[in-house]
Amino acid sequence: MNLLSTNVIMISLLTSVHLDTLKEMLDKSELEMYITEAVATVNHRYKLHYHITPPVGWMNGPNGFLFYKEEYHLFYQYYPYDTQWGPMHWGHVASTNLIDWRPLPTALRPADEQCFSGSAIDNQGIMVLMYTAHQSTKNPPFYNESQYLAFSVDGIDFHKYKGNPIAIKPPPGTQDFRDPKVWRHGMHWYVVLGSKTRDQRGAAILYRSTDMIHWQFQSVLAESSGALGNMWEWPDFFEINGKFILMISPRGIIPSGDRFKNTCQTGYIVGTFSYATCQFKQEVGFQELDYGHDFYATHTAERNGKRYLIAWFGMWESVHPEDADGWVGAMTLVRELDLVGSRILMKPVEAITSLREETILEGEFHHNASIEFEKTGEIIVNLDLTENIELEITGTLGGDRLSVRWSLDEGKMVVDRMGEIRQVGWEPLDTVIWRIFLDTSSFELFCGEGEVVFSSRVYPLGEWRVSNRGPQSLHVVAYTLKKKRKAN
Ligand code: FRU
Repeated sequence: MNLLSTNVIMISLLTSVHLDTLKEMLDKSELEMYITEAVATVNHRYKLHYHITPPVGWMNGPNGFLFYKEEYHLFYQYYPYDTQWGPMHWGHVASTNLIDWRPLPTALRPADEQCFSGSAIDNQGIMVLMYTAHQSTKNPPFYNESQYLAFSVDGIDFHKYKGNPIAIKPPPGTQDFRDPKVWRHGMHWYVVLGSKTRDQRGAAILYRSTDMIHWQFQSVLAESSGALGNMWEWPDFFEINGKFILMISPRGIIPSGDRFKNTCQTGYIVGTFSYATCQFKQEVGFQELDYGHDFYATHTAERNGKRYLIAWFGMWESVHPEDADGWVGAMTLVRELDLVGSRILMKPVEAITSLREETILEGEFHHNASIEFEKTGEIIVNLDLTENIELEITGTLGGDRLSVRWSLDEGKMVVDRMGEIRQVGWEPLDTVIWRIFLDTSSFELFCGEGEVVFSSRVYPLGEWRVSNRGPQSLHVVAYTLKKKRKAN
């Protein structure tokens, strides 16, 4: 059935529906038909199996992460029509275990606004999305950012609030005011937004409301002194183990030694917070959360006392070889957070073990020995840090390579992606292991209890080959992980 005849049938079925709603439904079904057809043209050579990727087109930051009606929902910045960033939609997936995600229809489409990042809450069975409406203007600075709401009663079909934009005032002197992260505490809704000061220093601003429509400014939770960037995107604010964490994604931090080597950064500030005064008192300043090449725009959700985090497995301005294949972008694995001292630990969610299939090695991994995986694998390495360690990760047919090293002299963990080095000191808290996840074109390394983590995209050709290039024999357990598609 072609598009037109489907539309005619829908029109005749829905003549009693208000015209706006009808148009929305037609646009929506047209988009889903486009996606279904375009998916058939995607080349899967680099497509990830157990990470979230867009069905087709472009994906960037995660949005609206929440548990709603027995499932986790995750939305994402999405442009279905090209493999470049474009007018932002919200793509949508859901999962019961944070590992197996099922695609759902695109939740938000741009109209007079682009649907920039935001978050979701469950308000007595109604899912409410709060997001940034990014609109072009005729005069400099040529854009404006305000906040919109959208609703759903089933978590699948979304309707924008007719009274948008809602009443929430940006800080004076800037039009950059985006990425609302909303939560409830007691009788109030709270939201933190990313912004900047009049003199271009990143800032995170807190507001409060009783109805989610009218918001009152409460405080500037924190702002950059200048060294911490000129715009803070994607703020998140939550309590863990008695402390409050302000998580931010700053733009414009200048690299310094081993630190801040990516185009944009993601990290957190630890402190205390009082809901009575809405003041956040910093105890430990900005620390990076992940040391890999491709990690930005984190987003967290809480359930049963556990705090889960997901991030864009990407970075502005990086090159994406999958661009030629009809899709671009991915999300990291979901990680469970803990706070020990002033350090956030990240561990992959427990259900990841349900993906294990075949054990391909359990025992000694000798100097210069290799193991091979077809696209997906998990490797757990027991380490002796009194000697240097090196794993070389390549493709059986060439392509990108990556080397993971423990440098004894420097006491540093090093991830070297073809000369692009990311490194950081590592003092294990307890367990002295590496846990590595490989998925077609991605690498994630969790050191110890998750005190040091690297997330990097890497594009080998053929299958994965992992070789022990260090002086010592290692004790390794290696599994293949379940694949979503049979052929690539
Ligand atoms: C980073 C970000 C957000 C913005 C969105 C636009 O995630 O730049 O600040 O809402 O992406 O796609």
